[in-house]
Amino acid sequence: MVVREVRPSVYFVGALDWDRRLFDELIPLPDGTSYNAYLVRGSQKTALIDTVDPSMEKVLVENLQSLGVDEIDYVVSNHAEQDHSGSIPRVLELYPSAKVVTNKRCADLLKDLLQIPEERFSVVEDGESLSLGDKTLQFFLAPWVHWPETMLTYLREDKILFTCDLFGSHLATSDLFAKDEARVYAAAKRYFAEIMMPFRKNIQKYLEKVLELDAKVIAPSHGPIYDNPSFILNAYREWVADEVKNEVVVAYVSMHGSTAEIIRYLVDALVERGVGVKQFNLTKTDLGELASALVDAATLVVGSPTVLAGPHPSMVYAAYLVNMLRPKLRFVAVVGSYGWGGRVVEVLKGLLTNLKAEILEPVIIKGYPKEESFRALDELADEILNKHRELKIA
Ligand code: FEO
Repeated sequence: MVVREVRPSVYFVGALDWDRRLFDELIPLPDGTSYNAYLVRGSQKTALIDTVDPSMEKVLVENLQSLGVDEIDYVVSNHAEQDHSGSIPRVLELYPSAKVVTNKRCADLLKDLLQIPEERFSVVEDGESLSLGDKTLQFFLAPWVHWPETMLTYLREDKILFTCDLFGSHLATSDLFAKDEARVYAAAKRYFAEIMMPFRKNIQKYLEKVLELDAKVIAPSHGPIYDNPSFILNAYREWVADEVKNEVVVAYVSMHGSTAEIIRYLVDALVERGVGVKQFNLTKTDLGELASALVDAATLVVGSPTVLAGPHPSMVYAAYLVNMLRPKLRFVAVVGSYGWGGRVVEVLKGLLTNLKAEILEPVIIKGYPKEESFRALDELADEILNKHRELKIA
């Protein structure tokens, strides 16, 4: 892997993982990812900021060797998850005088997860600074930006903010900086949806702090670095805001065509009324695309046939995931079909209790949709439009 200079005496020493296709055995990675670690050389001390996934440990070690790093004084750990911390034990072995600099919560997790001994830690408080000579690191706690121990590190003299997962993107690219903004925007939005969306309210608070710092560079631990921070800060401002768009996300599964016909009719009815729609067939879609669409949408429509008295298992899985991600949806509608009975609506409602959304009147149809079914779907489309108008987004 090629070591690159971010700013004088600040280097990218992380690893690109072009081939990884799944994160946490859950999240699809169509564009791979990267584990960004940074080396900061001060006039007196050297700090490594985060490490890499253990599968890429060799790359990190080679990068440090290629820079001729014979001493590391501090290993800053912004986040205990193993894709950033997993190579700390190896670094501590290679650099026996290095201390892990982190907050107490993170230190406790690292002791549990990686069995790093107590004496290797130097615990810092919120706002504390650490001098490297001509460079100064300052630490800001940002709990619940993914995990409870997360922290941001600011390199004051160079105005570089190391944000670990926050503002990251699962994107393996040879661009050190975010050059292809359209591509990075899509990857960062998907990443926000999958990782950060449940913590939207906390991030609103931290965004203010980040803006106050007036960083010139934002260096996350996945994906390219932002040398134009306003690009990602503006995007995040929109994603974490409470405002929703005149959009409906339609997620459905159909076995014998009835639910598919319901969805086809409803989607056309919404489009005719000027409502934006993003439609996902759950048996074909990448769930990251679905999550991404949920960042902005006002309404979610879920459509399922009845299987053994309940929703189709693919719908159960998707609903469970949507509930965990807590998008800022305002309305949810359940549509679907059945042959002789079932509890599709009750089960799906029970799976979506984290959402602060109004549940609209469901449309559940016996067999294949007929004239009266289409009238009910027109009414649902009217109701969605009216609800969006009340929010002044349509
Ligand atoms: Fe990239 Fe929460 O780890």
